[in-house]
Amino acid sequence: MNNPYLPDIATIKEIIQETPNIKTFRVVLNDQSRMEEFSFKPGQVGQLSVFGVGESTFVINSPPTRTEHLQFSAMQVGEVTTRLHSLQEGDQIGVRAPLGNSFPIESMKGKDILIVGGGIGMAPLRTLMLTMLDKRDEFGDITVIYGARSPQDLCYTYEFDQWQSQGANLVLTVDREFPDWDGRVGFVPAVLTEEAPSPKNKVAITCGPPIMIKFVLKGLKDLGFEDEQIITTLEKRMKCGVGLCGRCNIGTHYVCVDGPVFTYAQLKALPSEL
Ligand SMILES: Cc1cc2nc3c(=O)[nH]c(=O)nc-3n(C[C@H](O)[C@H](O)[C@H](O)COP(=O)(O)OP(=O)(O)OC[C@H]3O[C@@H](n4cnc5c(N)ncnc54)[C@H](O)[C@@H]3O)c2cc1C
Ligand code: FES
Repeated sequence: MNNPYLPDIATIKEIIQETPNIKTFRVVLNDQSRMEEFSFKPGQVGQLSVFGVGESTFVINSPPTRTEHLQFSAMQVGEVTTRLHSLQEGDQIGVRAPLGNSFPIESMKGKDILIVGGGIGMAPLRTLMLTMLDKRDEFGDITVIYGARSPQDLCYTYEFDQWQSQGANLVLTVDREFPDWDGRVGFVPAVLTEEAPSPKNKVAITCGPPIMIKFVLKGLKDLGFEDEQIITTLEKRMKCGVGLCGRCNIGTHYVCVDGPVFTYAQLKALPSEL
């Protein structure tokens, strides 16, 4: 049996400064055959280790349809992420992945898709959206409402044109007016309510700060979405990532193996987390 605590060693091939405090890391496993056979599903996460410092959890935000590298975006908040941000292209990190469950993409086929993201919460949504865009004819309309505090806090801005040319209907918003900003102005839940998407034959997937998710869930319910039509992800601190240490439990569930993806119906059955 493979040791679940043993990371693959990987090399950082490219670093992208997304926002003042978020960097994207494109990494390749050093073992070429491991890299070639690596498979995962949208929504799954990895534990990245900075040697001598520790491990932290990040969603794999490249899609499984594009396998030249694995992509992770990390917001600098504490010890591990600060050291991760200090690394350079060519440096080595540890990767334990894929971990956790994934978005139920098979059940989304043939449906219209509504993606609602805030800030770094766009990371798991990016992998889902790009997977769908790469298989565009298997899904209906794909609408993405994405917001951040300011234009410079939006991630993946350099890809927006490509997302749209591949068939995503992109609605961007920032919290207040900024010079040269010609997108929407307002919090993500308010823009959702203004857009008023119909729940008919639709799945809504949301990820972002807990306060945003709370009001997006309310907004979706007000628009008539059923609990089963709404999917979100839970961020619960992890350690082992494989259901052994008990660090991430909510009631009888371990977020690292039963999550991080949950339907709103499943979430309601858990002890209150939002
Ligand atoms: C399933 C999952 C997926 C994630 N995906 C991403 C991702 O794609 N990109 C990304 O930037 N981050 C992601 N995170 C969060 C990321 O794991 C943490 O920000 C990271 O572990 C912080 O490590 P640190 O050592 O830098 O911070 P620490 O030094 O451990 O903490 C710094 C401060 O932030 C707080 N904090 C850190 N992480 C969390 C958390 N998860 N919940 C509440 N408070 C927290 C701490 O309480 C502390 O106050 C994800 C977390 C989970 C559980
Ligand atoms: S992180 Fe150890 S049980 Fe989930």
